[in-house]
Amino acid sequence: MTIKWSKEWEIGIPVIDSQHKRIVDFINMIPDQGEDKQAIEAVLTELKDYTSSHFAFEESLIEEAGYPFTKAHSRVHVLFIRRIEDYWQEFRNGNDISSELVKTLETWLFNHIKHDDQDYSETVKRNLQAATDKAKEKEKKKNWFNKLFG
Ligand SMILES: [Fe+2]
Repeated sequence: MTIKWSKEWEIGIPVIDSQHKRIVDFINMIPDQGEDKQAIEAVLTELKDYTSSHFAFEESLIEEAGYPFTKAHSRVHVLFIRRIEDYWQEFRNGNDISSELVKTLETWLFNHIKHDDQDYSETVKRNLQAATDKAKEKEKKKNWFNKLFG
């Protein structure tokens, strides 16, 4: 089974959306049955990298933007990381985790990305816009200064 990225999972921040698309790739990498152990190991390895880099990036963005539910949001990330660690354990014990892993990743798309991540989107966009405006303003002042004294 393969799934396709859907627009309904987009939160409107391109850098975040492109990171989120990796979840769809991971789902598509998982074989229907767990006999392809290499594929599952590859997904678990990628997930480790994904969770550490993407979550940290997302958490710094929402904290910087003053999103009021930053702590709660980060806690959900921690739970997800723990879940992936549990899968590693199960996998090392020789269990077939493929269908469980697919379910978890799909739930992550349908719930966390679609709702929890969507929820911080406006706050972060506003903050990013404000930072851009400020940088432009600074640049304008610099040009004006150079014109007068340069
Ligand atoms: Fe998140």
